[in-house]
Amino acid sequence: MHHLGHHLLESAARGYRLGLLALSLPIILGEFFHPETGAEYDVETPTKLRVVARMARNNLAIPTGSSFVEHLVVATKALTVPAEREGVLVECGAYKGGSTANLSVVADLCGRGLVVFDSFEGMPEPEAADRQHVLLASDQVHTYETGSWDASQSTVEANVDRYGVLSACRFEAGRFEETMPAFDEPVVCAFLDVGLRSSAETAVGELWPLLADGSYLFTHEAKHMEIATLFFEGEWWADRLGTTPPGLVGAGSGLGLHPSDNGFSSLLAYTIKNPDRETFRDVDDDGRENVVGPRRG
Ligand SMILES: C[S@@+](CC[C@H](N)C(=O)[O-])C[C@H]1O[C@@H](n2cnc3c(N)ncnc32)[C@H](O)[C@@H]1O
Repeated sequence: MHHLGHHLLESAARGYRLGLLALSLPIILGEFFHPETGAEYDVETPTKLRVVARMARNNLAIPTGSSFVEHLVVATKALTVPAEREGVLVECGAYKGGSTANLSVVADLCGRGLVVFDSFEGMPEPEAADRQHVLLASDQVHTYETGSWDASQSTVEANVDRYGVLSACRFEAGRFEETMPAFDEPVVCAFLDVGLRSSAETAVGELWPLLADGSYLFTHEAKHMEIATLFFEGEWWADRLGTTPPGLVGAGSGLGLHPSDNGFSSLLAYTIKNPDRETFRDVDDDGRENVVGPRRG
């Protein structure tokens, strides 16, 4: 009886969270469904609705470390890249291909390639700094082992073939440290889901020079302090890339996509390479524009 009660409570909580997610989708996917998003690629509302359904279905069909809502945020930014800008989409860290399948659908809609980097043998041996990650927002400590998140290239290809668009993908098998330095194609959007700080350093270091100005680089380790802080470390950016750190939107708690304990959160965060500040609105931060309640002139 005690067990049954607990079970019912858990189901109710789960149902409530799913209901909240469904109710919040119009806000979270507002930009995805905006008519301008995808207009350059002739992607309109009926196609977008089919993409949402397909991505949600794929999430249920393939064991995946990231959610279709997160993939749709990446899709939104890929679909707003000017069509005449040359370049591919990049994924670092595929696991069984759940995120790869969804991103391959996006690449296909944009008429671009998706280049997928993974060892297809799971995680490399973690260095001392990567043995434990602190996720402050979730009260969690994550530990890593060599070979965890292991999935073969043929598993990923089979999943993408069944659920995504395999012809849009190119697979670069091997450790990032070995495969990425030889890669030199222009990149218009990147999704990193790599687990380790050392892998994130390699991926960011190699991709940043290839990213077009104004392009989005996503990381799926928003809550991992070891990785979120990389985007603020002046010394690393100066030494490795000769530039200043770009910061990270969602650092520490992620974009507010999934209902969680203290509001909405996720593991997704992003930065933008050299955003065009001319398009930003100037705001006088003087207590007139920035207040809640009645404004006095
Ligand atoms: C968390 S999993 C990716 C999850 C996947 N994006 C998803 O949504 O299901 C991390 C992946 O990164 C890969 N990986 C991490 N570090 C790597 C490295 N240095 N070289 C190659 N692959 C690496 C692992 O093999 C693993 O497939």
